[in-house]
Amino acid sequence: MTAKLTLVVCVLALPLAASAAELKVLTDRTESHLVPIFKAFEKATGITVKAVFLEKGLLARLQSRPTEADLVITKDADLLELARGKNLLQPFASPAVEKAVPARFRDPKSMYFSDSYRARVLFYSRDRVKPEDLSSYAALVEKRWKGRICIRSGYHDYNLSLFGQMFAAYGKERARRLIAGLRANLARTPTGSDRDQARAIHEKKCDVAIANSYYMGIMLSSKEQRPWGEATRVFFPDQAAGGTFILRSGLALTKAKANLKAATQFLEHVVRDETQDLIANLTFAYPVSGRRPWPKLTRDLGAGQRGVKDGLFKIHEVPLAEVAKQRDAVIRTLDELKFDKPL
Ligand SMILES: [Fe+2]
Repeated sequence: MTAKLTLVVCVLALPLAASAAELKVLTDRTESHLVPIFKAFEKATGITVKAVFLEKGLLARLQSRPTEADLVITKDADLLELARGKNLLQPFASPAVEKAVPARFRDPKSMYFSDSYRARVLFYSRDRVKPEDLSSYAALVEKRWKGRICIRSGYHDYNLSLFGQMFAAYGKERARRLIAGLRANLARTPTGSDRDQARAIHEKKCDVAIANSYYMGIMLSSKEQRPWGEATRVFFPDQAAGGTFILRSGLALTKAKANLKAATQFLEHVVRDETQDLIANLTFAYPVSGRRPWPKLTRDLGAGQRGVKDGLFKIHEVPLAEVAKQRDAVIRTLDELKFDKPL
């Protein structure tokens, strides 16, 4: 009985003793993309990173345990804007972050910032579609694409952000018509991941898909997925008009106060050139600092598309605060259109 009691006391005391040199992170990002960044940070500072990796439900977890972690890191900074609105974040204070990250990738009140972004592009069949056949997101509603388009669930964060940006940029009516027209042209029920859409193009199940730019680099670097990437090309829509929509990943401080210094150190670590290079080379996302060269696989995206050179493309910038306001309306519209319903 005595031994048991002693053990309980020790376990309870442990987190307090360890908290001084420990940083707790809550994240929905891919583990293999974050761990190398954590390792480099641990090596540079001696601070241990303890991360909880979630597939989904990041915002709900943050709401139910607001100070469980010091930092929240997400593939989808739209969630940080929603967290800000629910008063779950505190501002960061870092001249290094402000210097390295352009203002358009920072919340105006320093509640969060993006470390990198990616383009939500079109994947098209190398053999069955010519880049000249493509132009804008809106053109995907044309009759010639009937039964030829693939997309993952409309309710995935990537599509909620894309559709939210369309709502904000085009207005609700036009955006709704576009989403309805897109659905009417689907080759199959929305399913799978972004990479599964490239696989479907490879398997001739569809000819055009909506997916994130960096998956091309990931597929071409993988033995198993290389054929999907090789069957597919990237097109940046709306280069002649407003530009291609992007998805931003992001970081923010939770309301926890105990490890503020270490958490701020981590924010600064992420915007260092070395880390920005690591992000570009490991994930094929675009680092925000804009100071570093991109890997060849990233520079090659959009090759063959008029107006895109060395992978550089025009971005349609929609502030995250505007996108977040549209989220409920987007979900209602997807429900009304039965976007995910089996075809
Ligand atoms: Fe992803």
